[in-house]
Amino acid sequence: MSGAIPVITIDGPSGTGKGTISQKLADVLSWHLLDSGALYRIVAVGVEKKKIKSINIKELCEFATSMDVSFSGEFDGSITLDGVEISGQVRLEETADAASKVAAIPELRQVLLQRQRDFRRAPGLIADGRDMGTVVFPDAGLKIFLTASPEERAQRRYKQLINKGVSVNLRALLQDIASRDERDANRTVSPLRPAQDAVVIDTTTLTIEQVLDTVLEKVRERFPETKA
Ligand code: C5P
Repeated sequence: MSGAIPVITIDGPSGTGKGTISQKLADVLSWHLLDSGALYRIVAVGVEKKKIKSINIKELCEFATSMDVSFSGEFDGSITLDGVEISGQVRLEETADAASKVAAIPELRQVLLQRQRDFRRAPGLIADGRDMGTVVFPDAGLKIFLTASPEERAQRRYKQLINKGVSVNLRALLQDIASRDERDANRTVSPLRPAQDAVVIDTTTLTIEQVLDTVLEKVRERFPETKA
């Protein structure tokens, strides 16, 4: 691992504002961004496209090793798999659900480990996910863990999807979030939990600006040399 290149990890369940905060931080600091959830989502899309049975772990891992992925570098930006634009499919709720199923497979997590670490490039990296601080970048200089009540997270996701013109049902969304949380928190490998040295921020009653201010204060403390 390239120890000198600084990393800030932003972990937590979905709907806590991780993606937005990570993108804003990357913009403020002019650092690179890793949306690790997108990698699991891309695998889920690939599995469907190539009709791979996720119980066929060898085939799944071969695919995840060789898949040719490109990101535009922006959260919610363009994503291609083997040259084909798949961002629309990657962002679907069904894909998130399928992603959390493949994400419970230890062999697949192992394959994606190096791919994620390869995003660590100068001048620094903001890594957004579930296990960035615990497993992928345990030596990160700052680890943030965002939480919020399931109801608030479902509301936020609901508003986001409605704004995108996707029709959704709030109760179904809350159920989906609860079952994904349950799966992510109880899997045997890399379960969703804050690193021991993480700064935990409950965002339930905070605006994005308030969360960003709190995070930026920590960034200034830990990385006084940056332009935060
Ligand atoms: O963050 P996002 O909602 O895009 O992630 C989709 C799914 O991918 C999560 O529900 C989780 O199961 C899985 N994931 C993971 N580890 C990560 C990022 C995402 O297991 N670092």
